[in-house]
Parts: sequence; C-alpha cells; structure tokens
Amino acid sequence: MPNDSLRVGVLTGGGDCPGINAALRAVTKSLTLQHDAEVLGFRDGFRGVVDRTVEPLHYRDVSGILTRGGTILGASNKANPFNYLPRGGADVSAQVAKTYRTLDLDALVAIGGDGTMSIAHRLTRLGVDIVGVPKTIDNDLVGTDRTVGFDTAVSIATDAIDRIHTTAQSHHRVMIVETMGRYAGWIALHAGVASGADVILLPELEYEVEAVADVCRDRERSGQHFTIVAVAEGARHKGGDYVVQERGDEYTDSIRLGGISRVLADQLREPLDISIRTTVLGHMQRGGSPTAYDRNLATAFGTRAAALVAAGTTGVMVAVQDDAFTQVPLAEIADTIRTVPLDHPLLASALDVGTSFGVENDDVPAHTAAPSQ
Ligand code: F6P
Repeated sequence: MPNDSLRVGVLTGGGDCPGINAALRAVTKSLTLQHDAEVLGFRDGFRGVVDRTVEPLHYRDVSGILTRGGTILGASNKANPFNYLPRGGADVSAQVAKTYRTLDLDALVAIGGDGTMSIAHRLTRLGVDIVGVPKTIDNDLVGTDRTVGFDTAVSIATDAIDRIHTTAQSHHRVMIVETMGRYAGWIALHAGVASGADVILLPELEYEVEAVADVCRDRERSGQHFTIVAVAEGARHKGGDYVVQERGDEYTDSIRLGGISRVLADQLREPLDISIRTTVLGHMQRGGSPTAYDRNLATAFGTRAAALVAAGTTGVMVAVQDDAFTQVPLAEIADTIRTVPLDHPLLASALDVGTSFGVENDDVPAHTAAPSQ
C-alpha cells in the first residue's frame, strides 16, 4: 500500500539566531496537527541531508522550545552542497537530491538566511521542492521586511548601548559600540536610533572621520562630555575597505567582518583629545531567548510554510511585506541581499533629532527626501 501521507523534511541552515526553534516548532506542530504530515528533521543544516543524519520530529519533540535560543537541530555554515567544505569544496548537490528522493519527501522546509535561500533556489532545479523561512539577525533578505532573529538582536544591542551610555557619561568618553549585520546596517540603525546614539555608521554610507570627530567636539563644546557611536561591522571610511576579522575557506562566506570599532578609535585618537573605548557586541546578539515579536513572527512564518507545503506551493520563501504575510519566489531572493535604503524614513527621523551618520546631513538622501504622508 503506498503511503500517501505528506512527508516533509526540515532543516536550519547558516548561522543560528533567536527564534529558529520557534519557527521549527510552528512548522512541525502545524504540519502534524493540521495536515497529518510526517516531519523529518535534518541535523546541522544541509550537512544532515548530505549525510542522511535525520530523525522524525513529533509534536512532543518541539514542545517547550518556543522560548529557547539556538536550534535544536544544529546548524552549519560550512555545508553548502554546491561547495561542500567537509569534502574539500566538492559539489554534492546530487546527494541532496538523492536523499530527498530516497526518503520519499514531498517537500523540504529550509529555515535560513541569504546563503540558505540561494542554495534552496539552486536545489529546486534538481527536483527538490523547497519552502524557505527567513531567519537572520542581519535582516538582509530580499522580499521580506523582517527576518526572524532581527528584533531580538536589535533589542540586545539597544540594551547594550543603553548600558554603555551611563558609563560613557560618568567617564566623559567617546564609546564606540560595534554591531553585527554583515554588509547591511539594519541592526546598527535600529539599535542606534532606539538607544539615542549620537553617531550611527552604516555600511551603506561611507563615513568621514572628520565628520565623526566634529560631532564629538561639538558635544564637548556644548557641555555634553561624552559621545556614543553605534557602528555596523560592515561600515568603512570614505575610500576605505571593509575591516576583516578572518579570511579563509573554512566557511561558505569566506570573509568574517569585525574590528571596525578599533579602527575608528585609532582614527579618532589623533583629532580628539578625549578618552575613547570600544565594545564589540559579537555573538551576544545571536544568543538567548527570542523577543515576543520574533516568537510571533516565527510562528506566523512557520505555520504559513506548512500551509504552502500542504497546498503543494514550493520554490518560495514566506515573507512579511507592509504587515501582510505573503510569499516570494526563491529566484527573486537568491544571490542578493537587502541593504538599508538611504532614503529610509528612520534615517530621516534620526537626522531630525540630531543624529549624525558620519557625513554631511545633505549627503544623506533621507535628509532631502520628501516626508512620507
Ligand atoms: O549572518 C549573521 C552573522 O551573525 C553576521 O552578522 C556576522 O557577520 C556573521 O554571522 C558571523 O558569523 P560567524 O558565526 O561564522 O562568526
């Protein structure tokens, strides 16, 4: 007798972030409760599909994980099947397609970031039917206004900058706080505005050292003997290069950014006679329990992914656009990222309250853009 119940694989690709477990729970509970499906969880992202390390996921397996950070399935950012680093960069994508067929799967739900969605798109051409669920603290996926994990990272970074604020005030210092986000400045922008940072430096807008120094001097002159700078790890000065912490083929993304806060501190030491300190928030931003917003987003995304799979709609990523849930073709998301548009209204509001982006205000398109109605 053929088994005609739905069989769905699920994996969590790329780096972890808060809210992945909430998405995994939603996918699994929704598929089992609403669609009578069997769910199989792959270990460590695509690595589990290549190696066939897989186990059934039942309702009880995902009970109690809504609030837990990380991913119970494990993740890997070295397991791109088209450049499989555990096997010297070999193309093992045929193995993924084979596992998919051998396990008689109807679809695969891939919870991941831009790398995972690009891989997913390529796999669809090999007959693997995939629905993506966007997660990354970087919020840099095309086609969705929000990704799971971003809100939590912003809230952690905001809290950290708030704490830095009080010590900066006491010691009359310039305090530079470096956020993650790779080539997109979403975390620095949102956490910087939320914590009232005096300067926000984004990858999208090359900064001028003199403009940052001017802010610190102006604040000194006006009697505010401290300055808070929120800098995204992908920020760079005019004409400068990204600051790279590590290069190598150990990871799918061979460049690991990091260290711009110390570079900026060195750049400011000469023009300023003020004590300067740096803090790199690093992986703190990816740890711990997701915010209520991320739990709800993950639950909405996960249940929607389950419904799409049950309806036979694949080759898409679930998304939220202008507060409405939708889906976008993987083809539109693959091999691209969503950076902060320089006419973004949050930049305009930040400028209006006196925040600097490390350039002349007139050089920020949001400054001159017509206000939205
Ligand atoms: O993409 C998420 C992210 O945390 C980036 O913000 C950061 O640049 C990168 O991953 C760090 O990667 P890893 O966990 O490999 O150090």
